[in-house]
Amino acid sequence: MAILYTRIVFLLFVFFLSSSAFASFSPADEYLVNCGSDVDSTVDNRRFVGDASASKVKFFSSEGSIALKGENLALNVPQIYRTARIFAQQAKYKFNVREQGTHMVRLHFNRLYSSKIDLNDALFHVTVNGHVVLRNFSGDDKDSSSDFESRVREFLIWVDVGEVVIRFVPSKDSNFAFVNAIEVISAPKDLIGDAATSVSHDGTEKFNGLAKQAMEVVYRINVGGRKVTPFNDTLWRTWVPDDEFLKTGDGSSEKTYFTGRIKYRSGGASREVGPDNVYNTARVGKRSNGLVDMSWDFKVSAGYKYLIRMHFCDIASKSLGRLYFNIYINGNLAYQDFDISYAADDVLASPYYIDFVVDATADDNNSPSGSSITVSVGPSNKTNVDEHGVDAILNGVEIMKMNNSMGSLDGYVSTEMILSTCPNRRNLSIFIAMLAFMCIFMSFYIVTQRKKVKDQYGWTKLSMDILEDNPKSGNQFAARKA
Ligand SMILES: *[C@@H]1O[C@H](CO)[C@@H](O)[C@H](O)[C@H]1NC(C)=O
Ligand SMILES: *[C@@H]1O[C@H](CO)[C@@H](O)[C@H](O)[C@H]1NC(C)=O
Ligand SMILES: *[C@@H]1O[C@H](CO)[C@@H](O)[C@H](O)[C@H]1NC(C)=O
Ligand SMILES: *[C@@H]1O[C@H](CO)[C@@H](O)[C@H](O)[C@H]1NC(C)=O
Repeated sequence: MAILYTRIVFLLFVFFLSSSAFASFSPADEYLVNCGSDVDSTVDNRRFVGDASASKVKFFSSEGSIALKGENLALNVPQIYRTARIFAQQAKYKFNVREQGTHMVRLHFNRLYSSKIDLNDALFHVTVNGHVVLRNFSGDDKDSSSDFESRVREFLIWVDVGEVVIRFVPSKDSNFAFVNAIEVISAPKDLIGDAATSVSHDGTEKFNGLAKQAMEVVYRINVGGRKVTPFNDTLWRTWVPDDEFLKTGDGSSEKTYFTGRIKYRSGGASREVGPDNVYNTARVGKRSNGLVDMSWDFKVSAGYKYLIRMHFCDIASKSLGRLYFNIYINGNLAYQDFDISYAADDVLASPYYIDFVVDATADDNNSPSGSSITVSVGPSNKTNVDEHGVDAILNGVEIMKMNNSMGSLDGYVSTEMILSTCPNRRNLSIFIAMLAFMCIFMSFYIVTQRKKVKDQYGWTKLSMDILEDNPKSGNQFAARKA
């Protein structure tokens, strides 16, 4: 009897272990919005709800806005980047959230080509709850690569008020705001802890209150590995390879990868903190290859604190207790004799992360607003010099900008300043009426030109959207445009 009982307990235990190890995270709050679209679209098995169809406009409110369809788009452009919502005046999206805590807010921007609206006139501010997250933003890609993931701006916002309110505010009367897609997702509880180690010239000290800072993800790097796309990440993030950030090009570092199972463990990093694809690749440094330090350099803007999360997983050592190394931030010793086996509870291939905080001050090598953060790992005095093994390892790095004392992530401005100085009285109607007129005119023109072509064009559909969204009257926007 007792044996049977233990067996059942054991089976339950195994079942629990295996199911919890592979269960994917399901957030309490998850909103995915395909802005300016009247249809839903699925990207990487995730359904983005179109905000243009009347029945679904629950979280969106604006006096006047336009649902815009891009023209001349390449075939490979994902659905969510084919439409945008345009705002000529202050507008907001409001999402009710059930869970208090950190929420991931991702905004997608793709400056569409349209013959009706010139998106080069886009210039706007964005606030999320009490934080300015983008100021005088043009919606341009971070780097002008054709990579769609680079069009995402990601913010981590602590929410205790039961809602996430995202406001779009045109910079001037002659400007407008736009957005292509929005994600609001509650983060797992363990994603952002409250304490970190602050590193400076003067040494290290404890930093508390991390969880409640607003943050912008500026770099998310899979060291020694390939790009990880939202499809393969537990929280739908993108991680990029480290090659362009690696400073030491002297061959003292080598890439390594692991084909076994990453052993996630409570007390270490969870699969939501970093997916297998990040922990199963790394760069290792060997003194036998002439290693001094392995360093990575990241350009950042000065005047902010940054959270630097370094991801470690010993996928290179043959046995425990052999790998010790030092960690430096901007050349300052941040962690001496890091004992990766001890940190991972004496388990190989078990992930762990460390959070550091630094102040980025303007440096002479960059423009007044520019700064850089260097992270390095190098041999420790504890390493046995006679061994020709691995002397340092790094699997991933994330760098997140923290809000300044004004609560802003983009300049010395507060949300109050942004919301009060910006025009709020404008209305789109005349502009829309003109657009509608142009559309009718052009439809007529095209119909007469191409009687035989039967397919429907995007712009005819657009004119419908505009009329549906059309509010009242009186418009400076149109006057300006005229
Ligand atoms: C946006 O840019 C304009 C022009 O450079 C400037 O006058 C204005 O102060 C900026 N707005 C904010 C909120 O920084
Ligand atoms: C997901 O990861 C697997 C294994 O690393 C890879 O083969 C595949 O191409 C990835 N898929 C996407 C969409 O990134
Ligand atoms: C390593 O040892 C050398 C010589 O004993 C000492 O000067 C140095 O400060 C030590 N470095 C670290 C990081 O412990
Ligand atoms: C971030 O903003 C909050 C107020 O929203 C403020 O209490 C906090 O001190 C700011 N963080 C920093 C690092 O200045």
